Amino acid sequence: EIKALLFDLDGVLVDTAVYHYQAWLRLAKTMGFIFTEKQNEELKGISRMDSLDKILRWGNVAKSDTEKQELATRKNDWYVELINKMTEEELLPGAVDFLKAAHKEGYQMALGSASKNTSIILKNTKIAHFFDAIVDGNSVSKSKPNPEVFLKGAELLNVKPNQCIVFEDAEAGIEAAKRGGMKAIGIGDKNILLRANKVVNGLNELTIKDLKEL
Ligand code: G6P
Ligand code: MG
Repeated sequence: EIKALLFDLDGVLVDTAVYHYQAWLRLAKTMGFIFTEKQNEELKGISRMDSLDKILRWGNVAKSDTEKQELATRKNDWYVELINKMTEEELLPGAVDFLKAAHKEGYQMALGSASKNTSIILKNTKIAHFFDAIVDGNSVSKSKPNPEVFLKGAELLNVKPNQCIVFEDAEAGIEAAKRGGMKAIGIGDKNILLRANKVVNGLNELTIKDLKEL
């Protein structure tokens, strides 16, 4: 029986991918190259440093560890400037209604995100109160597809992995849920999120009844 719902943040509840892309692109340009929105897809769900490594590879640029730290900090400063201005308007369609319905149904809820900026986003979009536990980039050491972020969430909620459903927009996140022994609902393209138990375009297409039929 499902007792808990574990939500990824970026791409499931809020649309921050555009801001990540803007900030990473600005950084790439300072190094003399650009990358496409399609390539940006590959950065979804993976940590800041893993993202930077990929981008540097795309640009064929080599940097020392110290330089990489500086680059990541610069990108993050730009990113934070953007998300500091976020409002509830930027919650994805159906997100709040779904959280409300799930809460009313009595599910325990946790957030499982790779982002170290989770608290700013939750505060600006005013959804923090829905979650009984928050696991983010500051509390995990292994990034998705490693299941650590979701296993920690389940542990904090005191439920077993097979009592959880994960909501994820990233391939790496669906993989993490599966490796952790959880069910997964994909938000996005079913040709990409192949391992998900069910895929929808957004939480606006999902009802509590769908969860029971999973
Ligand atoms: C989320 C996003 C990724 C991002 C990661 C780390 O998982 O989908 O694109 O790289 O968080 O975000 P941060 O805010 O810590 O740089
Ligand atoms: Mg995501």
